[in-house]
Amino acid sequence: MLSKSIEKALNDQIRIEAESSQIYLAMACWAEVKGLEGVAGFMYSQSNEERDHMLKLIKFVNERGGHAHISALNAPNVTFESFKEMFEKLFEHEVFVSESINNLVHISLQEKDYATHNFLQWYVSEQIEEEAMARTILDKINLIGNDKGGLYLFDRDIVNLTVNSASMDNPE
Ligand code: FEO
Repeated sequence: MLSKSIEKALNDQIRIEAESSQIYLAMACWAEVKGLEGVAGFMYSQSNEERDHMLKLIKFVNERGGHAHISALNAPNVTFESFKEMFEKLFEHEVFVSESINNLVHISLQEKDYATHNFLQWYVSEQIEEEAMARTILDKINLIGNDKGGLYLFDRDIVNLTVNSASMDNPE
């Protein structure tokens, strides 16, 4: 059974994952209208992953005697100065999500809720992967700079990153 404070903290995380999904969906749309289909595909896939993160939390809360709340969301940014800025925002957002997960882990230990603590370990690993991927992408973008040819190749290659990350989630 979840304590009220853990239930509230998990519900806050449900909202954060839902907002993450919307943030990446808005990035997908921006990339798509700019003609970068690879980047758009990557962002659509990230958006789906965030929705899965949200659903996993929802199921956990409901199965542990709590009630998952579906709430209003903050509107995401829909335009960006550049691809670099967009990927910087993605990286910053993942760092923010990691901090939020760490905080949840801290609360679960304080409350001696070891079931929730155990459940959260999946999110801890996921955040390590997501931050690493965002950092790799940002390194590549910094290498490209303003080179249009480089951006074209990057758009083609980012498809592989999406496939790799999907196969990491489903190792079978
Ligand atoms: Fe669900 Fe990218 O954090």
